[in-house]
Amino acid sequence: MLRHLLNPLDFSVEELDKLMDLAVDIEKHPAKYAHACEGKVLATCFYEPSTRTRLSFEGAMYHLGGHVLGFSSADSSSAAKGESVSDTIRVISCYADICAMRHPKEGAPLVAALKSGIPVINAGDGGHQHPTQTLTDLLTIRSLKGRLGDMTLGLCGDLKFGRTVHSLIEALSRYKGVRFVLISPPELRVPEYVLETLGKKGIPYKEVQSLEEAIPELDILYMTRVQRERFFNEDDYIRMKDFYILNKAKMELAREDMLVLHPLPRVNEISTEVDDDPRACYFKQAQYGMYIRMALILTLLGLEVQ
Ligand code: CP
Repeated sequence: MLRHLLNPLDFSVEELDKLMDLAVDIEKHPAKYAHACEGKVLATCFYEPSTRTRLSFEGAMYHLGGHVLGFSSADSSSAAKGESVSDTIRVISCYADICAMRHPKEGAPLVAALKSGIPVINAGDGGHQHPTQTLTDLLTIRSLKGRLGDMTLGLCGDLKFGRTVHSLIEALSRYKGVRFVLISPPELRVPEYVLETLGKKGIPYKEVQSLEEAIPELDILYMTRVQRERFFNEDDYIRMKDFYILNKAKMELAREDMLVLHPLPRVNEISTEVDDDPRACYFKQAQYGMYIRMALILTLLGLEVQ
């Protein structure tokens, strides 16, 4: 049966564990997987800019011995002539075995999946969800902390438009003992629908504005960029963009074992002076992104490597 990844909750906790175990095995034994996707083709249909997600998907397919085709902007596809996502995916289904799609409109990968003959992976839809970033984040936390429950996670910055935040909160809310500290200016609070999910599940959370006050209690600090491309008004963006800047002085307030994650790209929200701090894990996080996407491609294609 055709299987897609549109939302981080599309995989059960047990399936996520299997996926992460597979990613760990791929990292340890890359040669074992080097031909697993021979003859298979991945289409990367990116209607919005990307560095990590698109290139890690493409790198993932190459490292599995497969091939890649696609486009990296709407302008270079027939979307510029008015073609619908539904028609595009019907055509791509004739050329490829699996598709990773990023789109500025929320729900576009779901619309594609309804007409697709191949698995569709949501590689980020507007300000909504970014499930493969969440897989990356979960693998990073599990690998570096040794667990996914029993922790206080602080999410800081643009919690309104930051799709990685919405996906990560939903995914982590399935693990026991997780508590969220949501650090943002009032204008960039987490959307109500995400807070409702937390409320219904009885997951403890608090909304605060001060990073300095919140940082001492955190096991993980997940920094985010203010999403310029989602603002309606440039003045609002300029007012918000440097609201939080993590620097060495703030890191001194944090625990010795607190991890700093960021989906990247960063702008100013983490000073480069933090990069050499052993608690700064965002570049390692980007590396995990390729292994988990390799595991995802294999899983959605139903390929097993002995
Ligand atoms: N984290 C992430 O989605 O980065 P890109 O926009 O570069 O893909």
